[in-house]
Amino acid sequence: MLPHRTNSSMSLSSPLLLFLAAVSAFAMSPPHMWTKLILTHHWPMTFCSMESCHHLNVSYWTLHGLWPDNGAVCNASWHFNSSEIEDLLPDMERSWPDLLKPASDGFWKYEWSKHGTCAAQAPALNSQHKYFSKALELYHKVDFDSTLRKFNIVPSQDYYKFSQIEAVVENFYGVKPKIQCVQPSKNTDVQALGQVEICFSPDFSLLDCEKEISFTGASGFRVCNPDMPVYYPPL
Ligand SMILES: *[C@@H]1O[C@H](CO)[C@@H](O)[C@H](O)[C@H]1NC(C)=O
Ligand SMILES: *[C@@H]1O[C@H](CO)[C@@H](O)[C@H](O)[C@H]1NC(C)=O
Ligand SMILES: *[C@@H]1O[C@H](CO)[C@@H](O)[C@H](O)[C@H]1NC(C)=O
Repeated sequence: MLPHRTNSSMSLSSPLLLFLAAVSAFAMSPPHMWTKLILTHHWPMTFCSMESCHHLNVSYWTLHGLWPDNGAVCNASWHFNSSEIEDLLPDMERSWPDLLKPASDGFWKYEWSKHGTCAAQAPALNSQHKYFSKALELYHKVDFDSTLRKFNIVPSQDYYKFSQIEAVVENFYGVKPKIQCVQPSKNTDVQALGQVEICFSPDFSLLDCEKEISFTGASGFRVCNPDMPVYYPPL
């Protein structure tokens, strides 16, 4: 785990241990080609309600990562090098900001090492430039922020029904997303919309996501409870 993305007060929960076990199992066997890519977006307000962010001025869904389904850290000796994506940096800073350390490239380094080196088994993604530019391309193509707004799902003090949000995403993209929330604290009965995954096949066409696949590890995101109201927190 990247230390700065881990909540220091968190104890080692069993999902995290299972996750770590899975990672080490993958590390011991040679990586196999992935069959699915998971484009993960997060809502900064919700993410920053769990983590200590350094700026809360991002009022659109940002990229969390582009994750292949074949494990993690497939080539530890392939180091992130921001010079290779220099032309992408303005878009990276806008679309894929590190909400914890805005001026650092630590988040991209982490995502490259953990997920990019695995994605790179596909010829279409076998360089840092190809990987990051494809992630940005898919992010802009999906344009998740606009889709929600188009169907009047906007940040609000009022709550949404989970089925309403799910239907908008499913109907618009024609595939099943994975929609994650931060579960309520003890004295509320509302969950906060936090992270949305849209999946792609190796030829980058849309594909259903599986609700159970999870790389979320240490973060507090869980698949939303369909029976609980959803809070989409405003800036
Ligand atoms: C927040 O964003 C707005 C609009 O992009 C900008 O005008 C403003 O200066 C930003 N504020 C801070 C504190 O960064
Ligand atoms: C791992 O990355 C290094 C540096 O890019 C490269 O030389 C090496 O061939 C890669 N190893 C595998 C197994 O792909
Ligand atoms: C980073 O990438 C640039 C451009 O490709 C290259 O010139 C430089 O040697 C690389 N740095 C390292 C440490 O690999």
